Amino acid sequence: MKIQFSQSRPQGARLIAHVVDKGKLPAATNAAMRAGAEAARFKGNAGQTFDGFVEDGDTVARLAIAGAGDKNDEARLANLEKAGAALAGKYQSTGDADMVLDLSESGLSADEAAHVLLGLRLRNWRYDIYRTKLKDEQKITLESVTVVGAPEGIEAAWADAAALADGVELTRELVTEPANIIYPESFVERVKQRFEGTEAEIIVLDEKQMTDMGMGSLLGVGQGSARESRILAIRWNGGGSEAPTAFVGKGVTFDTGGISIKPGPGMEDMKWDMGGAGAVAGGMLALVKRKAKANVVGVMGLVENMPDGNAQRPGDVVTSMSGQTIEILNTDAEGRLVLADALHWTQEEFQPSRIVDFATLTGAIIIALGHEYAGLFSNNDQLSKDLADAGEATGDKVWRMPVGKAYDKLIDSPIADMKNIGGKGAGSITAAQFLQRFIADDTPWAHIDIAGMAWSDKPGRTWGKGATGYGVRLIDRLISDTAEG
Ligand code: BES
Ligand code: MN
Ligand code: ZN
Repeated sequence: MKIQFSQSRPQGARLIAHVVDKGKLPAATNAAMRAGAEAARFKGNAGQTFDGFVEDGDTVARLAIAGAGDKNDEARLANLEKAGAALAGKYQSTGDADMVLDLSESGLSADEAAHVLLGLRLRNWRYDIYRTKLKDEQKITLESVTVVGAPEGIEAAWADAAALADGVELTRELVTEPANIIYPESFVERVKQRFEGTEAEIIVLDEKQMTDMGMGSLLGVGQGSARESRILAIRWNGGGSEAPTAFVGKGVTFDTGGISIKPGPGMEDMKWDMGGAGAVAGGMLALVKRKAKANVVGVMGLVENMPDGNAQRPGDVVTSMSGQTIEILNTDAEGRLVLADALHWTQEEFQPSRIVDFATLTGAIIIALGHEYAGLFSNNDQLSKDLADAGEATGDKVWRMPVGKAYDKLIDSPIADMKNIGGKGAGSITAAQFLQRFIADDTPWAHIDIAGMAWSDKPGRTWGKGATGYGVRLIDRLISDTAEG
């Protein structure tokens, strides 16, 4: 969706939107609309909408009003996003291609106004390229927003927010695409395309290179697939000479479970088992597009987990790049195997000052936290706090879970250095313990289990059903709050 700024209202505008604080209505509201708003109990609560028609010279325009709640609400910015999102949700299929957003009476700052626009743009996103038979009234018709009466500084504020939206939209696109379209190689190509023209450095490892480096853990997961595995790294040096922050993502482009095959119903969801890698790609795009003043690297481990004559078996022992050996007891616990080598390589290659990994790692985290918080596991209190703060600020929330020696013991193996599953309990924690075995002791590390967050079965804050883009805003905010001057 295009967002443009204009000094004056375009002639003949048919859809004119306002964002109002609680208890207020725009000056253009006529008596009939005022009565209507009261009858509809429109109060201007955050995300509440109301509309009516007003005559404006020869034209009749629809006046669309979205509430932003109380001006002093501590969730002010989130409420403004809600207001923008509500406008997109309600008017995206009205047949109007342009919405005029009149902010002249809103009293919003540039930053606040940018949040309205962010909500509007993110909520208007939908991926319809495979839906060739949509009826006119089902199509998204809203293509642009013309903002009038915007506060000073809006262009700069929006430029940063637009970079963030580009990132979220890339993540959603990757997550939404089916697994016959997005597999390791095509994931790399799609992401490369989006970074064209930027100054980011792109590094791709193919199977030959990974074999030479001894990545038996990652390669073992991909060996049953007709698709080749890849590692994709994106490096952005926007800072000084300091060591980079590394983000590492699980990119299982489809997870059948392998020989430990998953049941049929719901297996289609496993097309979004690359949501961690998707978040890293989108987060990097946001940082690169807004030219973040920080050194950052994003690493994505890309494989497809398939059962096949060449697939790995339960009981197999593989050797990871770190030299540690792993007994595969369940081929469906594959994400950790991919991350083991991706994490080790990231440390060797980039010597990061801290590492945050994102992964749709366990169903157990959905049992524990549902779809409100991602699970956070970490060896470092400061990094945990920084992530929790960034999560509260952006809505990409995390909840810290425990790690420790007693849990770590649960993945000891009688035949190898470790096994890839624990026992019955604490499934998300034993998965995190597994990852921690591939992190150098003194490196601050956090693992974020996003299995409950990457996809939504119902519309949410700034998304319709489907891919949420979780993680992009968390990445962007962690960097802006803790790595940029
Ligand atoms: N990709 C799944 C986890 C998952 C489940 C993500 C549901 C999103 C929604 C992961 O690879 C997996 O299969 N995990 C197993 C681990 C088990 C075998 C120890 C699980 O959670 O059941
Ligand atoms: Mn699995
Ligand atoms: Zn998986």
